Amino acid sequence: MIKYYNNHLTVEDITIAEIAKDRPTPFYLYSWQQIVKNIERIKRTFEGLDYHISFAAKANNNLYLLEELKNIGIGIDIVSEGEFESAKRVGYDPANVIVNGNGKTKSFLMDMLYYQPRALNIDSKEELERLEELAIKENKSIVIALRVNPDVDPITHPYISTGLKKNKFGMDLDTASSLINKYYQHPLVQIQGLHIHIGSQILNITPYEDAYGKIYEFIKSLNNHQLTFINIGGGWGIDYLKSGKEFPLEDYRLRVIPIIKQMNLPVILELGRFIIGNAGVLVGRVEYVKKTPYKTFVVTDASMADLIRPSLYDSYHHIYPQHDTGDEGKIDIVGPLCETGDRFAEERVIPLPKNDEYIVIGDTGAYGRVMSSNYNFSLRPAEYLIKDGEIEEVRPREDFKDVTSYYIKSR
Ligand code: LLP
Repeated sequence: MIKYYNNHLTVEDITIAEIAKDRPTPFYLYSWQQIVKNIERIKRTFEGLDYHISFAAKANNNLYLLEELKNIGIGIDIVSEGEFESAKRVGYDPANVIVNGNGKTKSFLMDMLYYQPRALNIDSKEELERLEELAIKENKSIVIALRVNPDVDPITHPYISTGLKKNKFGMDLDTASSLINKYYQHPLVQIQGLHIHIGSQILNITPYEDAYGKIYEFIKSLNNHQLTFINIGGGWGIDYLKSGKEFPLEDYRLRVIPIIKQMNLPVILELGRFIIGNAGVLVGRVEYVKKTPYKTFVVTDASMADLIRPSLYDSYHHIYPQHDTGDEGKIDIVGPLCETGDRFAEERVIPLPKNDEYIVIGDTGAYGRVMSSNYNFSLRPAEYLIKDGEIEEVRPREDFKDVTSYYIKSR
């Protein structure tokens, strides 16, 4: 979606200068075409299986995007009351909602008993006991999956690994087995599925082979317990480094799909980053090129309040200057906030941009706008969607009124 034509940066073939002309920076920009391409690749990988793709709304919760995804038959995975509200707001049928989270409150579980989602993933024995108590009190039945923690290393950043036994998510297989036995034929709480999500930004196949292999053995050990689905989570990584190391779909098809097939159950997927990560960019503008005896800093109007991944995880995002020729420099690309960690890249070698030129931070469709904040009283950025060659504002930039509305002066 990002290319240079005659030294001009374009997104979906529109120059960034044209796109940003009447749109104050910073803003997020998404490509619908890229989202659809990504979904097509998932579908091709699962061809021949009984599968259901749900989008992990935590990766991007823009309501217009959620609605567009719903309209093309993609389900939704939610992790909070807010995300559940969003799903309802855009018209999702609860029967298409997958529910996650490791700290579900009583009121949220009550809602679930009432709405009957497609699958409620239960994180722990303690949560299951709370749910059972409420189900009995309300005399309502519910279909659930147990989130199991297969204890495999997803080989990713420690903050986004979830399937190791030291991580807070899920339950070990022995606990799952004893719960399945205990709740066998329970009149209200029906354990019908297993859920496994081992982490995020995974680019290796082996952790999936190991995790699903363990789950397959586990399913076989359950004797006659009738599971009706398996939720294999998400976590597929994207090529942030632009090094050509993409998620190896062909290997996945050859090595992982056969294990999933053996389980002989309908499959639910919960992908976030793979669907939308490379379909979004953050567009900023250069305020200053500041030269010191030691460094060159390009100070942009975008900051860690708009995109926190580089500050939080030290993550790499490719950065595209408006023009791809010119003197190359080793530059630090930083934001304007009062914090040293407010930087997108250090000593990056790119053609040196000039004041007022645009700068684009790639692969920010997932975990970008959703993790933005009002730090330094920044206003969260607008979001635009390019679809069929048109650019539509799908969320305005916050204004000062939005973020001060709680304050009533006369109090
Ligand atoms: N399912 C569950 C239970 C999850 O916890 C997650 C992500 C997903 C699905 C979707 O994972 P994906 O396909 O997007 O990898 N803020 C971090 C990522 C945190 C991921 C949290 N869980 C980042 O910016 O890299």
